[in-house]
Amino acid sequence: MLLPMTSGAPDLSRFRADFPALARLRRGRPPIYLNNACVTLRPRPVVEAITRYYEAFPTCGGGRAEGVRHLHSWFGEELREEEERAREAVRDLLGAADVSEIVWTRNTTEAINLVARGLRLEPGDEVLGSEGEHNSNLVPWLEVQRRLRERAGDPELVVRRFFDLADDGGFDVAKALAAIGPRTRVLAVSHASSLDGSQVSDDVVRALARRVHEVGGVLLLDAAQSVPHRPVDVCALGVDFLAFSFHKMCGPSGMGVLYGRRAHLDALEPFIVGGDTVADTWVDAVEYKAPPGRFEGGLQDYAGMLGARAAIEYVTKTVGLDQVRAHDLALNAYLTERLQPLECDHFWLLGPRDAAERGGVVTMASSVGAIVNAIEREADERHNLMLRKGMFCVNAYLHRRHDRTGTASNNLRASVYLYNTEAECEVLCDVVEQVVKNPLDHLDDE
Ligand SMILES: Cc1ncc(COP(=O)(O)O)c(C=O)c1O
Repeated sequence: MLLPMTSGAPDLSRFRADFPALARLRRGRPPIYLNNACVTLRPRPVVEAITRYYEAFPTCGGGRAEGVRHLHSWFGEELREEEERAREAVRDLLGAADVSEIVWTRNTTEAINLVARGLRLEPGDEVLGSEGEHNSNLVPWLEVQRRLRERAGDPELVVRRFFDLADDGGFDVAKALAAIGPRTRVLAVSHASSLDGSQVSDDVVRALARRVHEVGGVLLLDAAQSVPHRPVDVCALGVDFLAFSFHKMCGPSGMGVLYGRRAHLDALEPFIVGGDTVADTWVDAVEYKAPPGRFEGGLQDYAGMLGARAAIEYVTKTVGLDQVRAHDLALNAYLTERLQPLECDHFWLLGPRDAAERGGVVTMASSVGAIVNAIEREADERHNLMLRKGMFCVNAYLHRRHDRTGTASNNLRASVYLYNTEAECEVLCDVVEQVVKNPLDHLDDE
């Protein structure tokens, strides 16, 4: 007898009740949300924390000069207390040595831009990444290259170099290590890919850190796809900078973090400057605050800070990151076992074959754009099932690998998080199976 396939994922279904969006109905059905690599849903404690700011102390945290407590204001003092606790929560989440190493940003993109604009790079210095970096970890460095070319008067100057990923899109540590050279000032790599979820293991990160430090460079980890899904300890990994966003871990949109080792933050030039970044000003001079204040220009997203802390609390304590990780892997193993046998000349999966190397992500691709469109449409119209189609901001890699075959943008990504269930994954697999096995039945309006 053929036993039904089960994922063996830890049962986290009790947490579903915390997510108001999961209680919505369209055409009598609830949503199936599998676009978590982009933005996750938010649980009630996070929404309540955000609302608490607006209801209880909707003021500014002003005068955040280091060590100066000059607020004599009821709401201001309460807010300041909340702000400090939120920063402490991020410090603990990342295992950072000190709260001054935690800079609030709007998102991962802004965090990487702070580093790219703040490092004092010179013509001759090089920035290294893989061929598969997200645009947010590519474009800021191309912008550095453009500026250094102008400065050097050399339009051919190469600042941003890249190394190849493995044939299956996984991280190739040998190629990465071999690419680090005496001119490498920055190694900026993603910890997990937004395209296919492929992961860089902790051992590999440590080896990269060691090597780039040997040549006097720094390691920046784009952790947008890792911090929400697994424990990350910046000290144990030896990273110098790390960036992530809260909207991928149950937190508010427009809230992110730059972690920087204190000595590196001290050496970084401020980028967005003005109110709140300075200790004092004169008509012709400025004295900047110490980090992190000097990097946090203007009135901050205080509601976002409260929401960020609530999200950390929820993901790490209420649920637990080890549980989240085990759940991701189990659901991905289920999806992969069901979808891999469907592979054929017009349908395949991207990334490493082993689901355990892809976190909570499975990305389907097709030689026929209409097949990907049909899966997305049927999933949406019949099941309220939400996926993400396109290039996932990894255009450069997809162009390089797939332009020749014309399939660069025919990708459809399913990404799971703690509230997803095996039954939801089963719905997706059934839709894919129907479309891939009988494409002509599903392409009628293309
Ligand atoms: C690997 C990676 N890096 C960077 C980003 C950019 O994140 P944000 O839009 O929050 O700045 C993303 C977003 O999907 C990502 O997956």
